[in-house]
Amino acid sequence: MGLPPFNVSGSPFSVVPIHNYPELMKKTCELINSEWPRSETARMRSLEASCDTLPCSLVLTTDGMNRVIAHCKLSQIPSKKMACFIESVVVDKSCRGQGFGKLIMKFAEDYCRIVLDLKAIYLSTIDQDGFYERIGYEYCAPISMYGPRHCELPSLENAKKKYMKKVL
Ligand code: ACO
Repeated sequence: MGLPPFNVSGSPFSVVPIHNYPELMKKTCELINSEWPRSETARMRSLEASCDTLPCSLVLTTDGMNRVIAHCKLSQIPSKKMACFIESVVVDKSCRGQGFGKLIMKFAEDYCRIVLDLKAIYLSTIDQDGFYERIGYEYCAPISMYGPRHCELPSLENAKKKYMKKVL
């Protein structure tokens, strides 16, 4: 079930859940690793966990589904059943600044609202809050991804994170 492939009117671009198109996993893995290098095994395991509920990885594809331009992953938030966490949002370096980031985020929001019946999306970012502000996200208090009693250890990385939210 779910939304059909989202075809941008009159253009060759589609956004699809990756578990419906496993042949795109290798290219998606390369795209994510070009931004945040990590073992291919770990990346593939994360993509292979994508399903009709959460977690779910979405990809923006073109060239007859032979090219992956963008990716994002939606995950559960244990303490917020009516919301999800979006992460690993990435657009191919050669395609940035052309509206593809905004496009995959819009599809992800529609997917959360229509298919998953969720009411809000949360995220954290170190340096892309300008992009998320531009597409309607607002700063919010930090949320835990590990359950109500989990306490994140202080680290330089965590101190720099900004949390943002959009009500759908
Ligand atoms: N600061 C302010 N505004 C921005 C920024 C920014 N850093 N980036 C884009 N915008 C604006 C654009 O000017 C555009 O404005 P407009 O609607 O007035 O024309 C609008 O936001 C949409 O921009 P897009 O062209 O859709 O953005 P793009 O395709 O370049 O994707 C992205 C943005 C995903 C951040 C891309 O630059 C990227 O892949 N960066 C590297 C990976 C990364 O840092 N990802 C975010 C990690 S945080 C997370 O995953 C939750």
